[in-house]
Amino acid sequence: MGQGHPALLLSLSLLLLSSATADDGSAILKLAKSITPLPSDWSTKSPTGFCSWRGIKCDSSNTRVTSISLSKLSLSGTLPPEISTLSELQSLTFQDNQLSGAIPSLANLTKLQTILLNTNNFTSISPGFLQGLTSLQTLSVGDNVNLSPWQLTADLAQCASLTTLTANECNLFGSIPDVFESLPSLQNLRLSYNNFTGALPPSFANSGIQNLWLNNQQNGLTGSIEVIGSMTQLAQVWLHKNEFTGPIPDLTGCKSIFDLQLRDNQLSGIVPASLVSLPKLVNVSLSNNKFQGPVPQFPPSVTKVDNNVGNNKYCAPPGVSCDAQVMAMLEIAGGFGYPSILSDGWDDNNACGWAFVTCDADKKNVVTVNLAKQHFPGRISPSFAKLPSLKNLYLNDNNLTGSIPDSLTKLPELVTFDVSNNNLSGKIPNFPATVKFITKPGNPFLGTEVETGGGTTTSSDVGPTKISGGMIAGIIAAAVIFIAVLSFVLYKYKKRPRKYEKKVERDSGKAFFNNGITGGGGYNKVSIELNSQSSVDDSGKNIFEEGNVSLPIEVIRQATDNFHEINITGRGGFGVVYKGELHDGTEIAVKRMESTVMGTKGMGEFQAEIAVLTKVRHRHLVALLGFCINGNERLLVYEYMPQGTLGTAFI
Ligand SMILES: *[C@@H]1O[C@H](CO)[C@@H](O)[C@H](O)[C@H]1NC(C)=O
Ligand SMILES: *[C@@H]1O[C@H](CO)[C@@H](O)[C@H](O)[C@H]1NC(C)=O
Ligand SMILES: *[C@@H]1O[C@H](CO)[C@@H](O)[C@H](O)[C@H]1NC(C)=O
Ligand SMILES: *[C@@H]1O[C@H](CO)[C@@H](O)[C@H](O)[C@H]1NC(C)=O
Ligand SMILES: *[C@@H]1O[C@H](CO)[C@@H](O)[C@H](O)[C@H]1NC(C)=O
Ligand SMILES: *[C@@H]1O[C@H](CO)[C@@H](O)[C@H](O)[C@H]1NC(C)=O
Repeated sequence: MGQGHPALLLSLSLLLLSSATADDGSAILKLAKSITPLPSDWSTKSPTGFCSWRGIKCDSSNTRVTSISLSKLSLSGTLPPEISTLSELQSLTFQDNQLSGAIPSLANLTKLQTILLNTNNFTSISPGFLQGLTSLQTLSVGDNVNLSPWQLTADLAQCASLTTLTANECNLFGSIPDVFESLPSLQNLRLSYNNFTGALPPSFANSGIQNLWLNNQQNGLTGSIEVIGSMTQLAQVWLHKNEFTGPIPDLTGCKSIFDLQLRDNQLSGIVPASLVSLPKLVNVSLSNNKFQGPVPQFPPSVTKVDNNVGNNKYCAPPGVSCDAQVMAMLEIAGGFGYPSILSDGWDDNNACGWAFVTCDADKKNVVTVNLAKQHFPGRISPSFAKLPSLKNLYLNDNNLTGSIPDSLTKLPELVTFDVSNNNLSGKIPNFPATVKFITKPGNPFLGTEVETGGGTTTSSDVGPTKISGGMIAGIIAAAVIFIAVLSFVLYKYKKRPRKYEKKVERDSGKAFFNNGITGGGGYNKVSIELNSQSSVDDSGKNIFEEGNVSLPIEVIRQATDNFHEINITGRGGFGVVYKGELHDGTEIAVKRMESTVMGTKGMGEFQAEIAVLTKVRHRHLVALLGFCINGNERLLVYEYMPQGTLGTAFI
């Protein structure tokens, strides 16, 4: 018995050892039994010595499998589900065989870095396949033409180390998941020859993707390709054979693109100069789209150009420039994001033959442009001013935003200009009395500056510009001193001076706001008043593009007991803050600028403040109700906050 113990211990430990190896060994044995032909030196009887079998690598303990590499061996058969127990596995490569059946789940194999299963004959892929593959760098499952249709899910976001994803021609459908913010290392994305639909995911923006192959989708990806303009690492871009629409974005930032395939889509608009001048461009295809404007002329360094002119909507042969009115009309179409309907019918070098356009008797000069009721988004291009004979311009019943370009007031022949039933905002240009200028109904924000529109931009020839979250944050930060919004409390005035009475509606501040601006003389009158009193020349205009509410000094004097000391709630570098009360009991805070800071500089700051305040609308910020300029007085009127924020922090 005394000798029995060591023997028992030895056999026990052998058993333990063999059971540890038996795990990985049994999975390898299962694999051996399910593939043919059996690789030389493999056995289907016993896993003994599997770590030295061809294509298998183990860790230093010689028990745990780290790599299985059996590519290009004409293997058929299947991969057993036991592969999912190989928890030390780093690399699994079976590409270029005829393996079939299900791709087993590899979920939660957290050490796995490489999966190459492409170019086989697999028929299904287990759901959750991508879960927990936190170390995965390369995933290749492409060229499995018999895979039953599957979707790339948001699980992909868990593969945070991914640099290469190749999944072409493997029956993927649905949308491309919007998870690319979670894949900061991704450089190669190949999803060609599938059935992806929907738009390019917004999270492509600012990604590090260099090679993007999304070409040849069965039904076609749709929407705009604008996001590629922000993918600055792009080198090779294959988007051909899809259903993309809209223009090519500004590619100035994409300095590494050498290969850009855009043929066979529905892209429209003028091919931007930023494409033609891409420094590394070698081959490019544009055929079979709806491109307009002059034929792009590529430098000799671009050696492969596929730009079949006849299959696009270019306005003149290469090297010939297009008619001025044609170019103006195309810039106008650009304001609306180059809708397809304006490229289908706008394809020669005389705008007088185009849909929606009427010319004079000689068929020379554009007289009427009728783009009413087209559901167009976007903006009114200032290029309408380049149509000198324009008499009638109908843009009503669309979905236009932004402001009405001032340049349109210069059109000498203009008779009718209808923008009703849109969603325009910003300053209302001053048209001559001879122009029948129709803004209502609709356009509730016209005469005001709205925060989301970037409405002061008048030069935008492309689609709507967006203010980023960062810009909003910046504006809010800038407003730490100058808080708030023009808003609604003003209508609570019970006794307004007579000239305001008519314009003010009691039911909503918005109504006050709009009517105060659009209702005739009020707007211009205030503007003139300010300009005449301002020591700053042109900046006075800017304030009033925002459409603020000017208050009479009498109202403020009354509310603050003629700026009585007793009403002072705070003092700061910029002046004194008074508490006040309007007739109806509304409490206000009045910021009275110190006259010493009110030089030219102070005036500029005062204007800047109003401009900022009217753009910022935020529930945590105090509302700016109005302002007053009277002689040397510069006053800002806010909602009163009893907590005293205005009296302390904000001056
Ligand atoms: C992977 O692990 C997570 C967390 O442990 C678990 O919720 C999930 O079900 C696992 N996935 C699979 C497919 O086993
Ligand atoms: C692929 O699998 C299908 C059935 O799933 C079979 O008909 C076909 O012959 C296989 N092809 C090859 C090359 O093995
Ligand atoms: C492609 O996907 C669409 C929508 O997901 C589907 O209706 C269509 O049948 C698919 N086409 C093919 C050939 O599978
Ligand atoms: C574009 O050019 C590159 C390099 O010359 C080449 O590798 C690539 O296949 C070309 N692409 C097409 C679609 O011709
Ligand atoms: C107008 O534009 C807005 C915002 O872009 C959109 O939500 C809305 O559906 C559009 N309306 C029409 C009629 O096109
Ligand atoms: C009109 O524009 C404003 C501000 O730009 C926006 O908040 C609103 O949703 C728009 N209305 C429609 C109907 O598109």
